[in-house]
Amino acid sequence: MKLRVLVVFGGVSVEHEVSIISALQAIEVLQVKYDVIPLYIAKTGVMYSDPSFLDIETFQNIDDVLQNKKPVHIIKHEQNGMLVYKKKFALQKIPFDIVFPILHGTNGEDGSFQGFLKTLDVPFAGCDVLGGALGQNKAVMKMVLQDRGLPIVPWFYWEEHQTMEEAFVQKVKRLGYPVIIKPANLGSSVGIHWVEDEEQLLTAMKDAFLYDAVVVIEKAIVHLKEINCSVLGDKTQCKTSVLEEVVKEDEILSFRDKYERGEKGKGMASLKRKIPADISSDMEEEIKQYAVNTFHALQCEGVCRIDFLIDCDGSIYVNEINTIPGSLSCYLWEKSGVSFSKLLDDVLQMGLKKYRISHNKIHSWNTNLLSMYEKGQGKLK
Ligand SMILES: Nc1ncnc2c1ncn2[C@@H]1O[C@H](COP(=O)(O)OP(=O)(O)O)[C@@H](O)[C@H]1O
Ligand SMILES: [Mg+2]
Repeated sequence: MKLRVLVVFGGVSVEHEVSIISALQAIEVLQVKYDVIPLYIAKTGVMYSDPSFLDIETFQNIDDVLQNKKPVHIIKHEQNGMLVYKKKFALQKIPFDIVFPILHGTNGEDGSFQGFLKTLDVPFAGCDVLGGALGQNKAVMKMVLQDRGLPIVPWFYWEEHQTMEEAFVQKVKRLGYPVIIKPANLGSSVGIHWVEDEEQLLTAMKDAFLYDAVVVIEKAIVHLKEINCSVLGDKTQCKTSVLEEVVKEDEILSFRDKYERGEKGKGMASLKRKIPADISSDMEEEIKQYAVNTFHALQCEGVCRIDFLIDCDGSIYVNEINTIPGSLSCYLWEKSGVSFSKLLDDVLQMGLKKYRISHNKIHSWNTNLLSMYEKGQGKLK
């Protein structure tokens, strides 16, 4: 029997549509070998499943489509999971073997959806709760990278409840203008500002706080090269892809650069880029080593993409990790001799292996503590 793969996409995130593109790209390849069941999380957070979700055109007027659809639920079933929904008076059941989350950003890439699956005890591919959470939160991610001695740009974070008066302004000044302002928990460049001086600072901070209660302030690299490297693996083994150099037209790599300028419907795979990146082989090796160290430091599994900032003096900084990268970085792996189909096989196999290993650990005690509990006394006998 073919492995039944529940591919999950959409989600409550500013990267909702990007996730639909990434998922449909993967589904096209997965369908050759696996039984694919699509699970779409609407912007409201309600989950739906329907064969029409395998077609991108369905999403061009999704609000109308959803009017006739019934929500579905994921439940634990035998060793795996099952989708259930009501059709007339009967309960419909669609069993599956593993979940493949292809969600970007908040409420999906950040460990929250993975936490939901862990609570249900359902196998899933990719990073676990901790990897997803560390990778999504730019402030905590930087703390871990700093602790592991990985190079990052000078930075600090500020919370919404803290006042932005003299102490804050002085702290930014010490960092030195220009600075970059980023909501801690977003992606696709949403809410990010390039700030040249004090005058622009407060407006940028206020805008960033619209998206998150924690904002990261970091020194801007003015003459910048952006290099990305994908890592595929788990705790025991991993490999790196060729490096790409991304080409941007705005000051920062914007949402438009990422998804609107290239070939329509291709998501991250359409961004303008140079593969392999035009850098020395020494720098290439150094970046690959940092990519692997970042992958392990942030407890990652499956396929991730680590993004670097290179200053004109040759300094290398780890900028961020994407734990469910756009287009699953398939365009980098194809140039590294790993087909999209092989990449997806590997990520699924690692997910199954992780589930098996986790099941060999002790998760519950066969005790009957409650037999010792005295009714009405609120205490143990
Ligand atoms: N310190 C920095 N100096 C210069 N440009 C930066 C810096 N940090 C980010 N950028 C620019 O902003 C873009 C988005 O920032 P990033 O941290 O990657 O957030 P996101 O998660 O939204 O992709 C980067 O691709 C880069 O173009
Ligand atoms: Mg980025």
